Amino acid sequence: MEPVNEGLIERIDAYIENLFTLPDEALSQNLADAEAAGLPSINVSPNQGRLLYLLTKLVGAKRVLEIGTLGGYSATWLARALPADGLLVTLELEARNAEVARRNLGRAGFAAAIDLRVGPATDSLRDLIRSASTPFDVVFLDANKDGYVEYLELALQLSRPGTLILADNVIRHGHVLDSNPADPYDAGAKAYNEVIANHPRLESLILPIVRSRVDGLAISIVRRD
Ligand code: DHB
Ligand code: MG
Repeated sequence: MEPVNEGLIERIDAYIENLFTLPDEALSQNLADAEAAGLPSINVSPNQGRLLYLLTKLVGAKRVLEIGTLGGYSATWLARALPADGLLVTLELEARNAEVARRNLGRAGFAAAIDLRVGPATDSLRDLIRSASTPFDVVFLDANKDGYVEYLELALQLSRPGTLILADNVIRHGHVLDSNPADPYDAGAKAYNEVIANHPRLESLILPIVRSRVDGLAISIVRRD
């Protein structure tokens, strides 16, 4: 047995990716376009995108809410998991990112399946709550981590018993292990983890995600009882 080390973990990630994720024009174009536009490369990995896709299919989701569109990479995976009459509502703060995402999602054939809203997520979430939006089947949080706790409370008002709530980057390369993280994103992720662990309406766990560095995906289900 080789000892667990970063090189091995990266090779395992690549091994899994090569097994299950075929070269993909839409996703490659998406990343190339995002890079050319100067977006940060903080999109989910191909394997994590596939995990989002599988989980969304697993629950038979028709309505998905994403908070943090960036260039639309994870949105492409989520949209692919939807049936023909499905809808992905995705929220993005930066107009510049939204423009890249809109172009990419249009090219991938999802213009009609996606409702991309630009502006602070709290505003868009409150608009959805005010309009008595049909509850979402899946919620994916992947925006500023210092907003996660507030986004969760608003997303819960847009959920039903059984809604799956996912949150990216909740391990923050291990910084959530610090007793009092100085970085607001680390502190926000740590606060989120503690909220979901103790929330009366949720049952949750964190799945560690290992790539070149370690992070985690929080998985919660809104209680049915
Ligand atoms: C980082 C990674 C992310 O996936 C994200 O959503 C935000 C930040 C990061 O590694 O800094
Ligand atoms: Mg992320």
